[in-house]
Amino acid sequence: MTILTSSQPPASRAERLWWRDAVTYQIYIRSFADANGDGKGDVEGIRSRLPYLKKLGIDAIWITPWYPSPQIDHGYDVADYLNIEPDYGTLAQAEHLINESHENGIRVLVDIVPNHSSDLHTWFQDALKAAPESPERDRYIFRDGKGPNGDLPPNNWQAVFGGPAWERVVEADGKRGQWYLHLFAVEQPDFNWENQEVREHFADILRFWLDRGVDGFRIDVAHGMVKAAGLPDVIAPDPKAEMLAPENRPFWDQDGVHEIYREWRKILNSYPGDRMAVAEAWVSPASRIARYLRPDELANSFNFDFLSCPWEPAPFKKMIERSLEALAEIGAPSSWVLNNHDVVRSVDRFDLGLIAGRANTTLERHGDPKEFNLERGTKRARAGALLMLALPGGAYIYQGEELALPEARDIPEERLTDPRWALSEHTDRGRDGCRVPLPWKADSAGAFGFSEKDGLKPEEAWLPQSADWGIFSVENQEDDPDSTLNMYRSALKIRRAEEGLGDGPMTWIETDESVLAFARAGNFACYVNFGAPMDLPANHQVLISSGPLDGKVLPTDTAVWIRTSSE
Ligand code: GLC
Repeated sequence: MTILTSSQPPASRAERLWWRDAVTYQIYIRSFADANGDGKGDVEGIRSRLPYLKKLGIDAIWITPWYPSPQIDHGYDVADYLNIEPDYGTLAQAEHLINESHENGIRVLVDIVPNHSSDLHTWFQDALKAAPESPERDRYIFRDGKGPNGDLPPNNWQAVFGGPAWERVVEADGKRGQWYLHLFAVEQPDFNWENQEVREHFADILRFWLDRGVDGFRIDVAHGMVKAAGLPDVIAPDPKAEMLAPENRPFWDQDGVHEIYREWRKILNSYPGDRMAVAEAWVSPASRIARYLRPDELANSFNFDFLSCPWEPAPFKKMIERSLEALAEIGAPSSWVLNNHDVVRSVDRFDLGLIAGRANTTLERHGDPKEFNLERGTKRARAGALLMLALPGGAYIYQGEELALPEARDIPEERLTDPRWALSEHTDRGRDGCRVPLPWKADSAGAFGFSEKDGLKPEEAWLPQSADWGIFSVENQEDDPDSTLNMYRSALKIRRAEEGLGDGPMTWIETDESVLAFARAGNFACYVNFGAPMDLPANHQVLISSGPLDGKVLPTDTAVWIRTSSE
């Protein structure tokens, strides 16, 4: 069966829009590199690592929110969309980074957070001081409560991080008054996207950053901005607000969001250089994702169905087919992703499995951690990477993935910072385990080279690093030809050189059901073996493999890219 990713993708990569093929590297700024020695990453830290990123061979970086923020949700609570968090640097440094990235052939995406602001945003502070029904309150979602004296929340919505999605405020007269909506933490009030001023403010924010040269945006909670009219109750046995809810939710994936993206696309198109946006839309099935990628809307949308697959061939095959078929109808590319700052790292996930139906944000939702086998998990994560990078379309890599970093398991409870921890009443440790600062050096000085301050100890980084973090360091992997870092570098190099990779058609190759195998143009084939060792086809040349091959035999949990013979 042949599947096309687009109705008519231009055959040559040079002719295609860059974001149809791009490999984008996600930088979680707080944990990437610390230039000023305060134990938190920063803008200058990123700039100092541009040579590393260039050598890795990625096309673009996406920088997580770097705006002034009280950091309740580490920047996803924005207090001012038009400036840089002082702990991270200055606007001038950000501009410098954008320019220097471009000089190195790396495009830059910034994170835009339009569903909610921080409660310290001036607009929200004004809303708190203003009266009910005032224009200030109309920028957010304030409602009277239900029941006697309005003591009950306006509806039964629950926050993603736990607890009710409504918070009651104290009015100017000192009495308990209206409630405001926060789909995430209490400190993250949701904007009212029916309000024209909100729409205009975000159009200005986009232009502000486009004027500074960014190539695009990653849109946070892109499926959440518009709520169903009348804010109806969630009708479901469990009204909890999972990001990837099993049933429809009146706050996710409403038709109205698409009108916003049509406006944003016009703004992006008014700038030269194929500016783009990628949606963080936790929607399923693929036909719903495709709606965000219609020709007059967004460029990319993370393929979270792919990210949510367990390490088994059948679910991967089904998801890949469904995604490509849905996107082919509208001519959009898929954006494959295996890791980000919200999910348990693939090294652990692929080993432990996933408790059915749950989003994989935290280790507790996976199998028994005592069963974790680092060697097997690493093997699978490496094979998964070669699978991802051979599929049609673009891909997103999360910092540390190229080092096969596992989830950090030993962060003491008193050091956990994810709001999920407190809001779940200490039942969900949250996402800190995939956010621990990167180890650059084998030696523990400067928190394994994360910080320019040599005296900084691993436990003094904003999230503590474990004593053995240096094993995974860039330094340790730099000269080892078999390291995961060098596997990513080689795979990205091959991907760049192979015209058949990136966007374009793929064909499944008939083989054992415990193997995923597919061909791309140029006699290229990718085999991923989930089962017993198997024989590779005769007359092939190995381009790269995720682990050692046994002659012509592809071992279990291993992937290989080969050039097949042309007959
Ligand atoms: C997105 C971000 C996540 C954040 C949430 C609320 O899902 O990726 O980190 O907590 O939005 O902004």
